[in-house]
Amino acid sequence: MAEKKLIYLQPKPVRIWHWLNALGIVTLCLSGAQIRFPEHINFLGSYKSAILLHNAAGTVVSLSFVIWLVYYALIARSIARIYVPKIDDLQHGLLRQAKYYFLTYFIGWDNPHHPNPQDKFNPLQKSAYLAIMFVLVPAVCLTGLLLINIDPLRGLIVMLGGMKILVGLHFLLACSLCAFLVTHVYLATLGHTPLAHFKPMWTGWEAVEEHSKTATGH
Ligand code: HEM
Repeated sequence: MAEKKLIYLQPKPVRIWHWLNALGIVTLCLSGAQIRFPEHINFLGSYKSAILLHNAAGTVVSLSFVIWLVYYALIARSIARIYVPKIDDLQHGLLRQAKYYFLTYFIGWDNPHHPNPQDKFNPLQKSAYLAIMFVLVPAVCLTGLLLINIDPLRGLIVMLGGMKILVGLHFLLACSLCAFLVTHVYLATLGHTPLAHFKPMWTGWEAVEEHSKTATGH
């Protein structure tokens, strides 16, 4: 049997950001669905309580985004290395990883990517997380912050095309985030056991096989 060694993959600030963000975004999806379709959905009692919870969860997600940005950009200074795909990732890595997720995973082949603290994400993760963390999350937060501050930010809202455009944009961005969330949670279960990728996101430590090419990444 191959020897296992533990590597420290997920530092504490990343774990704190991730679970605050996950809780916040799930709460935003549930309360947002009630605010958008009040005649069909009632998860949280009154319409007013759905709005209060939505605004509170939006604030938590925006603040936790700052934790993520400060940690990666200013403390670890690894944001570009970890999140930006390299030329080889784009030319070969994306296809290689997609083939794994769509085909070779199901016939028991090894994951082509083996994570380590310097190169945590496979090429598909890099591309998806880059779009999510640099475009989608900031855009949802900014449109949401405009919507809770209509009066003081009226000039900016008019510049962006008015309330209808802003509400529509916020809704479309939120739907894209929900679609990401479903795919993300499914892909996160494709480790050597269904919880293998959840453990490092909780404890920080990932068990990898030494001197072997067995998959631990996804
Ligand atoms: C119930 C909700 C969620 C669960 C169960 C979950 C699960 C996980 C797991 C297991 C990982 C570690 C494996 C990996 O790197 O993919 C991870 C990483 C990650 N997740 Fe999630 N996630 C959730 C929500 C979210 C949301 C809402 C976002 C963004 C909007 C998000 C963004 C990320 C990112 C960017 C990483 C990589 C973090 C890093 O190492 O820098 N997750 N997630």
